Order: sequence, then C-alpha cells, then structure tokens
Amino acid sequence: MKVLILPDAGAATERAAGLIAERLRDRPETVLGLATGGTMEAVYARLIRDHRGAGLSFAGVTSFNLDEYVGLAPDHPCSYWHYMRHHLFDHVDIDPGRAHLPRGDAPDPEAEAARYEAAIREAGDIGLQLLGLGLNGHIGFNEPTSSLNSVTRIKTLTRSTRDANARFFARPEDVPRLAITMGIGTIARASEVLLLAYGAAKAQVVAAMIEGPLTAACPASALQLHRKVTVVIDRAAAGALRLRDYYELVHPDGREAEI
Ligand code: GLP
Repeated sequence: MKVLILPDAGAATERAAGLIAERLRDRPETVLGLATGGTMEAVYARLIRDHRGAGLSFAGVTSFNLDEYVGLAPDHPCSYWHYMRHHLFDHVDIDPGRAHLPRGDAPDPEAEAARYEAAIREAGDIGLQLLGLGLNGHIGFNEPTSSLNSVTRIKTLTRSTRDANARFFARPEDVPRLAITMGIGTIARASEVLLLAYGAAKAQVVAAMIEGPLTAACPASALQLHRKVTVVIDRAAAGALRLRDYYELVHPDGREAEI
C-alpha cells in the first residue's frame, strides 16, 4: 500500500485529483470506478476545474459507481445518481450512456445487482477505482462481515452508516435500509485503487485498514491484498498510524518516492 500523508484535506484533495487526472491523460479510455460521500465532493470539484481550465477530458471514460440506495429512483434528490449528476456528470464531457450506477428503483434489486456485476465484467473490470472509507471500515456499502470475495449484491446498512449518512436526508428515518453495492471481490479486481479519508474521526479506522489484521470486521483491510493501492489521507486521519514516520520517510508530504 502506498500511504500518502498530506498536511490537510485541501492538499490531499489536490494530490488525489492530480493522480486521477494523470491516469485519464495517460489512458483516456479508462474504466473509472466512482464513489460518493462528502470526501469526494471536493475531488470532483477539482476535476471539473481541470476540465474547464486545463482541458481534462472524460469523453473516453466509462464509469461505474460503487453503490446506490435501494428504493431511490435516479431523479430522487438523495440518490447517488443525483449526487453524481450534480457533483460531476453535468459539468464534464462524460458520455451519459457510459456513466453507470445501479438502479435503486429496479423492480428486482437482486437481478439488478447481478446485471450490474455482469456489466462491469463486460467492460473489462475497473481500471482505477476511487474509494472513500466508512467510519466502520466499509468500502462502497460493504459493511463489516461482508465476504472478502463478495460481488455486487444487496446489503443491509448498519445503524452507524445510516447515522453517518443521515445528514444528506431531510429526516434520519428517510435513510434507506438497503443498498446495492459492488462487492469487495469486484473492487479487488480493479487494476488500481485510490482511497481517500480525512479527519481525526477516521484515524482509528485508517489504522485498522492499513496496519490492522486482514479481517471482514474491517472490510477496507481487504485492500492489504491488492497489488496497487494508494491511500491519500490528511495528518488528522494519520493520527493513529504506528508506522507513520516510515510512510512520511518514503513519501515526504505525500510526494512520490525518490529512488
Ligand atoms: C457512504 C458511501 C461510501 C463512502 C462513505 C464515506 O457510506 N457509500 O462509499 O466511502 O459514505 O463518506 P464520507 O466521505 O462522507 O465520509
């Protein structure tokens, strides 16, 4: 795992967006795995600025989002479809026909999950997967005890996840109980993973993911098995890392290693 510790969230966002832009310039036809959540908002805003000011193009990209709430139609203001249009798709040149999310309002959610997994495989799997990190160690909506080999399916959200996401809904009881999410096995097939986490509240779970045991109790720890993972964190989120000095020695201020 490449652990890049940046002074603050702003610098971490710059670093992460820079890595994404670099991949898109190198490989304009990348299959991008996209994430939602508060952390990603600034990253997408930065990419939109690059699109407008620096010619960054999404025209060749195919994208698959990690997850969607069961029961929310794409036009629901709290759906991840809506989030993605609002924070990215409506502002860049991505082909809407190649920007995919699961349909939360599908009549048969399990069939929708299977269809989505097949579509990802059909596209040749994810090239670069963006991830946020849940306070309980979830990636996508793979809650603790998710199979480390899981594929896209329906998951019941934990109380902690519903509480954390309640801020996006009018009333806490409006947060759906179920989601369709790529599995940990789906994510593991990505060629490259870029995970972002900021703030002191995530320090313990960041340490569990990077330095803790490989365990379904912390789904993000499965990334320890992946060959190409970059973790971009701010100093606050790095607060509980035992080997922090080592990461900063290898990547001072989150820069590439000097060999
Ligand atoms: C939601 C998403 C996750 C995301 C997490 C963290 O639960 N399904 O993919 O990683 O939120 O969100 P935030 O960035 O708001 O902390």
